[in-house]
Amino acid sequence: MKEEKIRLHDKTFKPYIRHERILDAVDGIAREINADFHGCDDIPVILCVLNGSIPFTGELLQRIDFPCQLVSIKLSSYQGTKSTGTVLNVMGLTSSVRGRRVIICEDIVDTGNTIVALKEMLLDKEGASEVRICTLLLKPEVYDKPDKLDYVGMEIPNAFIVGFGLDYDELGRNIRDIYVIDE
Ligand code: IMP
Repeated sequence: MKEEKIRLHDKTFKPYIRHERILDAVDGIAREINADFHGCDDIPVILCVLNGSIPFTGELLQRIDFPCQLVSIKLSSYQGTKSTGTVLNVMGLTSSVRGRRVIICEDIVDTGNTIVALKEMLLDKEGASEVRICTLLLKPEVYDKPDKLDYVGMEIPNAFIVGFGLDYDELGRNIRDIYVIDE
């Protein structure tokens, strides 16, 4: 892992979680999901929440060992480094999930506004038969929803991070390791 700090827009970030550690967390989640869905008769949907979850979902998908379908949705609740609290449905689902079991793949759960609104929308409006939440990262100090998070890769303190899909105003998604804001 490069020890250097990086600069994105007006902020500086320092190395935080190396790529290999991220992949270990993905391995752990995949093991749990594979155990839960082993031998299933249906074709569950792996739902990638664009854009942040692209690297995570890509790694996870390669480790899933039962037949599944990849579907994507684009949502947004963040502007800069703060959650706006309102979840915007920017782009609909790329395929129907009616009657299907869905595993939402999120890069990070912060307040939980995004994931909880998405879960409700999938169940109430889109007709999913079951929705499970899977997130690579969780900020437990901030998450304030009663909803169970079914699969969590890693818990982290409440600090703004970038890399491995996570952005600061659209920059940093392409960085392999995760960096934390240097304040
Ligand atoms: P929530 O709705 O407050 O749980 O926020 C979830 C969404 O906010 C994630 O899907 C990310 O897009 C974004 N987000 C939350 N924390 C961070 C962070 O530390 N860095 C970059 N994006 C974040």
